[in-house]
Amino acid sequence: MLTGAGVSQESGVPTFRGEEGLWRQYRAEELATWQAFETDPRLVWSWYDYRRQLVSDSEPNAAHLAIADLERGFDGFTLITQNTDGLHERAGSEAIVELHGNIWRARCTREPCACYQTVCELTENPLSEIPPLCAECGALLRPDVVWYGEPLPMDAYERSHVVASSCEAMLVVGTSAVVHPAASLPLVAKHAGAFVVEVNTAYTPISALVDATLLGRAGDVMPEVASRVLEARGEAERASADPVSNSAPA
Ligand code: APR
Repeated sequence: MLTGAGVSQESGVPTFRGEEGLWRQYRAEELATWQAFETDPRLVWSWYDYRRQLVSDSEPNAAHLAIADLERGFDGFTLITQNTDGLHERAGSEAIVELHGNIWRARCTREPCACYQTVCELTENPLSEIPPLCAECGALLRPDVVWYGEPLPMDAYERSHVVASSCEAMLVVGTSAVVHPAASLPLVAKHAGAFVVEVNTAYTPISALVDATLLGRAGDVMPEVASRVLEARGEAERASADPVSNSAPA
């Protein structure tokens, strides 16, 4: 499973490139880059504080819950998400690979320093101090997210690549599939022989490459997909558990 901002849209969390998209109001370069942070850490943190408050006032929606249901129904299920809002975890998902980090964590920025890049939970909301400082050395903290021009966390990227190249099926939900390397994962899965289905309110650059595109809101489509898949799974298990009574009459 690969998800993007479209999954959180029905929870009231703006996407990045949609009508109400964040990147329509702000320039990504002005807020989601190391250079922007170095230039004005107060501005960047004020923006994250605004998003953290917005997310904490939101609830996981039916799509998040359906994805957590699918995880409980399948051993070896992995959720690779580009979302940094933590709503998947709040919905009960556990096997999560956060490709772009998480806005509820932060890292120390002082280099060299014993706590350089040390990740800490930053759950205070709203932040009483902007920008927040490292409790160890008093240096600036930065959000534990991947900004433009930065590499993905190596462990998360490697894990997502292993999952994509070994899965039998992949659902790609609510992503515009334009930001790499995340956007290449459905193609990695496809080339490895997986059945790849996209769920989105609009076609995307990978629509011509995947096996099927289910057009609709994730909150409407995913509960339906989850219940049908889990039902089929149940039937398959019953059939294999009792082949005789489930075989065609002689
Ligand atoms: N249900 C399903 N899909 C939806 C819904 C919805 N309710 N609402 C919007 N979408 C779709 C849009 O059509 C679009 O294809 O979700 C996608 C959201 O795309 P983006 O805003 O580009 O978000 P995402 O793909 O997650 O962005 C990738 O870019 O800005 C960076 O780091 C940030 O992780 C983010 C990355």
